Amino acid sequence: MTLDVVILAAGQGTRMRSAKPKVLHPLAGKPMVTHVLDTAEQLGATRTHVVIGHGAEQVEAELSGRDVNFALQAEQKGTGHAVAQALDNIGDAKVLILYGDVPLIRAETLAALLAEVDETRLGLLTVELADPSGYGRIVRDIDGRVTGIVEHKEANEAQRAITECNTGIVAATAAQLKRWLPRLSAENVQGEYYLTDIFAMAAAEGIEIATASPASALEVEGINNRSQMAALERAYQRDRAERLLTEGVALADPTRFDVRGRLDCGHDVFIDVGCVFEGEVTLGNGVSVGPYTLIRDSHIAAETVIEAHSIIDGAEVASRAHIGPFARLRPGTRLACDSKVGNFVETKNADVGEGSKINHLSYVGDARLGRGVNIGAGTITCNYDGANKHRTDIGDDVFVGSNTALVAPVSLGDGATVGAGSTINKNVDAGALAVARPRQTTRASWQRPRKSS
Ligand code: UD1
Ligand code: CA
Repeated sequence: MTLDVVILAAGQGTRMRSAKPKVLHPLAGKPMVTHVLDTAEQLGATRTHVVIGHGAEQVEAELSGRDVNFALQAEQKGTGHAVAQALDNIGDAKVLILYGDVPLIRAETLAALLAEVDETRLGLLTVELADPSGYGRIVRDIDGRVTGIVEHKEANEAQRAITECNTGIVAATAAQLKRWLPRLSAENVQGEYYLTDIFAMAAAEGIEIATASPASALEVEGINNRSQMAALERAYQRDRAERLLTEGVALADPTRFDVRGRLDCGHDVFIDVGCVFEGEVTLGNGVSVGPYTLIRDSHIAAETVIEAHSIIDGAEVASRAHIGPFARLRPGTRLACDSKVGNFVETKNADVGEGSKINHLSYVGDARLGRGVNIGAGTITCNYDGANKHRTDIGDDVFVGSNTALVAPVSLGDGATVGAGSTINKNVDAGALAVARPRQTTRASWQRPRKSS
């Protein structure tokens, strides 16, 4: 049987106190609902249906690039009603019901649940909670068979003492749901169509209710407010940190570390406090990352040292490079082996050759630097004429004196030298010296003006 996944995401999320729909709030840099979609994809779902209501347009817009069906639940009449909205578009398939605000559910847990489902069996994910208040309780008979779920608000004293809780995650066949959902009633404390009422119907039909549980309660934790959101973010990051530590990465403080995407590390990598990794990042063997550094979509090869407060975005860095402190590498930066980009240097679309150095206070954009180049402090590639961008081409072993403006398009041949303070707007041949600054005039015994009294 094929698999359809239904993700409930119609609720308002009032307690987030946000103009943004709850399920679009990011966890580890990615909207909560996208975590759930990605998990559904891992399960090989043929189709994923997202039930939307509050903020429907925003959710639809955010997920427009994804292969999902949207089912509009104009009025939120309960979880059973929500699932029913998606059911018309589902043929003969297994149906897995997930939640846009329960982002950390793992594919392995769900696969185990799905394995339990067929025409004679229904799957329910339950969790033992020390504080079960607010949750639906799992009611079992003396033989341990599930006979139903009682919502907290409907439960009596004895039922409230039950600590096995409904996670809300259910796996059934479409045929079962089509049989039971139309029979739900809203005559209960909340006046809602409870999805949970299908379990008593199943039990009455003699259909077995198989249960499974997540490896960790974090997997089934729902987010209702920003405090829970922050707590789940920390738990997620702590888990990521723990996994890296296990893999042999040295983290100065696993509680001050954030990955928003994918981070792959070689051996003997060191990461200092307060670093953030976004998108796809790889750190080669022996890479050291200084404190408060942001690295996004970049590859850093072995033994490279990144010093504090650097920002590296869309860069390819070869081995033994030295970056920062306070360097900013923008997209299209490529640093070859043993190159150096020091403090308050910004690079963009720049190819920096082997062993070349831009040690301080420079902007190098739309440029190629050969090997062994030395760029003095305060050098600017003037790449923009107000309308178009132009390139600067610098050969091997070029020496550019401090405070030089290189007005692109311009090229400096191999071994060229530029005197400090020059404004270079003509090409400099290989081996030549170019000095483009006013000559110094000096007057002996100069009397400075005096203040008039
Ligand atoms: C539900 C379960 C409860 C379980 C708990 C786990 C029911 C009746 N109760 O209770 O047994 O322990 O989840 O968290 O199912 N939603 C819609 N449309 C609706 C109603 C809800 O899309 O009409 C979505 C909400 O956005 C939310 C989710 O479904 O993400 C759960 O709904 P909520 O009303 O919060 O259910 P709970 O009271 O938490
Ligand atoms: Ca809830």
